[in-house]
Amino acid sequence: MTSTIDIKIEKIPKSRVGDYDVNDVPFGKCFSDHMLVAEYADGKWQNACITAYRDMPMSYALSALHYGQAIFEGMKAYKNDKGEVALFRPLENFGRMNKSAIRMAMPEVPEEIFMGGLLELLRLDSAWVPSSETGSLYIRPFLIATDEAIGVKASDTYKFIIITCPAGKYYNEPIKVLIETNYFRAVEGGVGFVKAAGNYGRSLFPTKLAQQKGYHQVIWTDAKTHDYVEESGTMNLMFIIGGTLITPSVSDTILSGVTRDSVLTLAREWGLKVEERKISIKEIFEAHKNGILEEAFGVGTAATIAHIISIGYEGIDHDLPPIEKRAFSPKMDEALRDIRKGRVEDKFHWMMKL
Ligand SMILES: Cc1ncc(COP(=O)(O)O)c(C=O)c1O
Repeated sequence: MTSTIDIKIEKIPKSRVGDYDVNDVPFGKCFSDHMLVAEYADGKWQNACITAYRDMPMSYALSALHYGQAIFEGMKAYKNDKGEVALFRPLENFGRMNKSAIRMAMPEVPEEIFMGGLLELLRLDSAWVPSSETGSLYIRPFLIATDEAIGVKASDTYKFIIITCPAGKYYNEPIKVLIETNYFRAVEGGVGFVKAAGNYGRSLFPTKLAQQKGYHQVIWTDAKTHDYVEESGTMNLMFIIGGTLITPSVSDTILSGVTRDSVLTLAREWGLKVEERKISIKEIFEAHKNGILEEAFGVGTAATIAHIISIGYEGIDHDLPPIEKRAFSPKMDEALRDIRKGRVEDKFHWMMKL
């Protein structure tokens, strides 16, 4: 989609960055100086502006609140060892945002607003990007329906917004997960393959129940049979079984993760056998019984790699080998960090400098 709109820049007179230690702030709670806002009305994008981060004046009849036309992305910028800021594979998030927009009957965001606006925003707020080993600037682009009207229909007006916040480590420890077989996250023909806000709302109750039992997250299973694993929380799921990396293939119930693709690309490059296919709960626990379930982990932008130390199923916790004994995932975590920190060649051209 093309457009010819300029992005107006309203720089704030004095940055707030000195009020924080960007290398040590809680995830998602402290927002950087500026934000990008663009409006869609009368069939076109307009009024794109980078301005001070601020609250949104809003009607109680805002259609996004009632009918769920709300989608988002999650991506990160990193500061490398030379102090340069670069985004990790942003075009993947741009493409996925528009895939979500199409599925939710929303207008696609033009590249010059999404990418052009994002690069300008980060140039203004680069001081907010942490330099710590595991820190990054988390970027949240989102698109919401803004008609002020009650009545189920696709909105005629929308707002596209990008806000950013410094972020540290997502999980401080390996996670315990529970295989969920009562509730499901996504269904064939549904919206599990896109980042629709409702996917996350519906996941909170089963996750709360799992957390009350002492787990960090759930493993979602397929809605039809609950026999096959799909994702864990907001991460794609991977296993090393007998030296092979196995992950559920992407489908309309599984989000096509950027981290997933990056891990698979590097694993193949390293010569590891990789299988993208269905994985049954039965296969996982048979492998565990036979001592060949070497690793299980979630992959996603927030955590990069979350090591799974225990998998609960039907009242039994199945413990996995300690992280020190894992040959693949700690090495992969480090390899991704080295690319982001500019310590090794960026062979696949994943980093986009400002
Ligand atoms: C449901 C779901 N699965 C997987 C992922 C991982 O995707 P990515 O690696 O692009 O962050 C996310 C996070 O975006 C997610 O929300």
